[in-house]
Amino acid sequence: MQFSKKSSLLSALTVLSSLSTAVKADCQLSSDGNYYCAQTDAVIYSNVGFSGSYLDVTSMDESSCACTQGSSTSFSGSLAPLDEEVSIHFRGPLNLKQFGVYYPSSSNLKKRDVEEPCQEVVSTKIQHKHKRDVAVEYVEVISTVWIDANGNQVTGANAAATAATSYTQVNTIVNQGTTTTPAAATTTGTTAASQSTSASSVSSGDWVRGSYYTPGSTTNCTFMNHMGGSAGSGVWSSCFGNSISYAAADGVSGAGSAYALDDITLKSGEEYMIFSGQECSGDDCGYYRENIPAYHGFSGKDKIFVFEFQMPSDTAGTGYNQDMPAIWLLNAKIPRTLQYGKSECSCWESGCGEMDLFEILSSGSDKLISHVHDGQGGGSQDYFQRPVSSTLKAAVIFHGEDQTIHIVEVNDDFGATLSASTVSGWLNEAGSSAALP
Ligand SMILES: *[C@@H]1O[C@H](CO)[C@@H](O)[C@H](O)[C@H]1NC(C)=O
Repeated sequence: MQFSKKSSLLSALTVLSSLSTAVKADCQLSSDGNYYCAQTDAVIYSNVGFSGSYLDVTSMDESSCACTQGSSTSFSGSLAPLDEEVSIHFRGPLNLKQFGVYYPSSSNLKKRDVEEPCQEVVSTKIQHKHKRDVAVEYVEVISTVWIDANGNQVTGANAAATAATSYTQVNTIVNQGTTTTPAAATTTGTTAASQSTSASSVSSGDWVRGSYYTPGSTTNCTFMNHMGGSAGSGVWSSCFGNSISYAAADGVSGAGSAYALDDITLKSGEEYMIFSGQECSGDDCGYYRENIPAYHGFSGKDKIFVFEFQMPSDTAGTGYNQDMPAIWLLNAKIPRTLQYGKSECSCWESGCGEMDLFEILSSGSDKLISHVHDGQGGGSQDYFQRPVSSTLKAAVIFHGEDQTIHIVEVNDDFGATLSASTVSGWLNEAGSSAALP
């Protein structure tokens, strides 16, 4: 069901005064400087996607160090720009037990890629910078209210009064410890009616697994890290440093071809990423840094990512990003040009898209936060419990039909197909709402 942004904003405003006190009371400013609200097992993004544009990199000069952003790329529609190709990024301490990507069975699926053999490749280790080096200057805090599968608010004294506009939230921008509430910080709500429509209108048919990884074995996934120029793939230059490269089975060394990771635990600060097994050809990936192994990400308005992972604690060191594991998505163009470095060398700053799925915001924290970084940025300050001593299974469902993305803790098996009823069960899970403006 379509709804007008303007009128839903008005409905959200009407209930704002009655809700804001109660909602804020649930949230705590932690000693790490971040706001956390309630523990959750599902975060439901709504109103995802807008019309906008970002700047594509069109050249990288390895001798003059200049990057050119020659063209403005526009996007629009449901989930945009997160419907574009994304790569999946992982930072330790983390052990990935399963990863999979599913598409609706109606999509045009082809034969699986042949599994790559496992092999050890040894190489030197370098210090990586973290995405936060170029990331937010302020922390956006969104207090969320709970909704059930019918879009009704689950908790709070005002539940009855707000049943008609149950998908409501209050944002507060916190800048260097000072709390302000700018006009723009109030976001939209959607009606109970549109929410219940979305919950019941599940796509027909099963979902088919197009990519899968479990330790030692991978199908249509390419593991990469930032060891370009050091071990048989990618490049290094004094201008742009190490490009991406194939990752060896240990996850942290570079390699000359693709490998399935072994059952490895990344240490704090170490990172790898996953692309599909499909190589870029011609200009079907747009511009990318020359001489890198360039692969497609995972695109589409309807796609499901599944994860099973553990984020053990790592209290041994004091280094950068110590004990701050994370899993996030980037527009796949970003790592194919420059993930860490000059902002004009990737489309990140101009808003081609990042979505943090599970991110620890301060060393040693046990609260995993999700957030979208693009022209529509927003998220939830409700948190998933970090799986320190066991694994967490989760599904991330991109549901183009109603502009939602659901991040849901699940217990199901990640087999070759997901039945329509399994997926519909996930979409119907109640959770914390994160309505994008
Ligand atoms: C591999 O993954 C890509 C990206 O999801 C997909 O487009 C392609 O069809 C997949 N290939 C196979 C053989 O399943």
